[in-house]
Amino acid sequence: MVKGIHRPTRAIINLGAIKRNIINELERLDSRVSLFAVVKADAYGHGAVEVAQAAVAAGASGFCVAVLDEAIELREAGFDVPIIVLGIINPAYLQLVSRYRLSVTAPSNEWLLAAEEAYYEFQLTEKIPVHVKIDTGMGRIGFIDKKEMTKANDYLASSPVFELEGLYTHFATADTVDETYFHLQQQRFAEARQLFPEAIKYVHTANTATALWHDAWGSNMVRFGNAMYGLNPSGTELTPPYQLEEALSLETELLHVKQLKKGEHIGYGADYETQDDEWIGTIPVGYADGLRRSFSGYSVLIDGREAAIVGRICMDQCMIRLPEKYPLGTKVTVYGKNGGRFNSIQKASEYIGTINYELPCNLSERVPRIYVDL
Ligand SMILES: Cc1ncc(COP(=O)(O)O)c(C=O)c1O
Repeated sequence: MVKGIHRPTRAIINLGAIKRNIINELERLDSRVSLFAVVKADAYGHGAVEVAQAAVAAGASGFCVAVLDEAIELREAGFDVPIIVLGIINPAYLQLVSRYRLSVTAPSNEWLLAAEEAYYEFQLTEKIPVHVKIDTGMGRIGFIDKKEMTKANDYLASSPVFELEGLYTHFATADTVDETYFHLQQQRFAEARQLFPEAIKYVHTANTATALWHDAWGSNMVRFGNAMYGLNPSGTELTPPYQLEEALSLETELLHVKQLKKGEHIGYGADYETQDDEWIGTIPVGYADGLRRSFSGYSVLIDGREAAIVGRICMDQCMIRLPEKYPLGTKVTVYGKNGGRFNSIQKASEYIGTINYELPCNLSERVPRIYVDL
């Protein structure tokens, strides 16, 4: 998909906010704990390479990504710090893992054996750093059975192919007030930890929520994602120990303005009927840009005032009810600050009944990312 650079819709990414969110977290962490920036999914839609640069400048020691290509993108951009791929890699691509000096997830003994086979097939020579994933209750990937863990440990202890670089797990409920399930997972990880050597370079259990509300329990590294972008993983349930600054704003401009008489209709399905003579603006942002149709009725900001999206959101445009006539080219803010008002991504995500993570991830490639450092 091409970027719409000749259209006024853009996502403004404030790298300064990203750096401050990281610095605030590093200030709270024990100095022996390192912070890896989670920049998967194009840094949650913010742009992987630019965010990675800001993260390293702010003190991040490495990166976590989900898929192999994301790791390769970072290496090709010149980053030399450790990169861990959290998802499962097909062993058929092991030569890329080796070539790009990546650390990968070992989710099972079956995977280790298949990867060993690939290692010899490709005649690789450097040991592959693996992070053994323990499934303590997320139910997604990783070792569950203790016998399998012991087998993995015995195998890795004498493996000429792999280096046990990390041991980790992922908590399912670290972002909620009720800690019962968190404690169960914590207990299971403590038991698993006993089955592996004392000295492992990275033991990491903490995503943002664990780092914010559980003091990075049992970890010497945190996988810091959502809060880096200024978003609270808990939504509104738990309050972060420091102020998070949202890094992404979504802005556009009024492209067309008209007054419609009372009783006129707007959009597909002619769903919306004007209640009065109304000033209606058209803005060039639609569901193909990531503005989901369920945002119909949501208020964007213009001149520090609210303007509701009226009618169904189209693929590339939508219509807003203006508080008064505004000139073409007036700035309209979907997420972010406008004239002293703030439309937070949190508030917007609540409007459509989702989590804040999803909105920046949903922004399509067509929306140019513009970087500022304020
Ligand atoms: C295994 C793992 N670790 C860390 C993270 C980062 O989570 P957060 O953005 O909540 O910090 C994720 C994100 O989904 C993940 O899957």
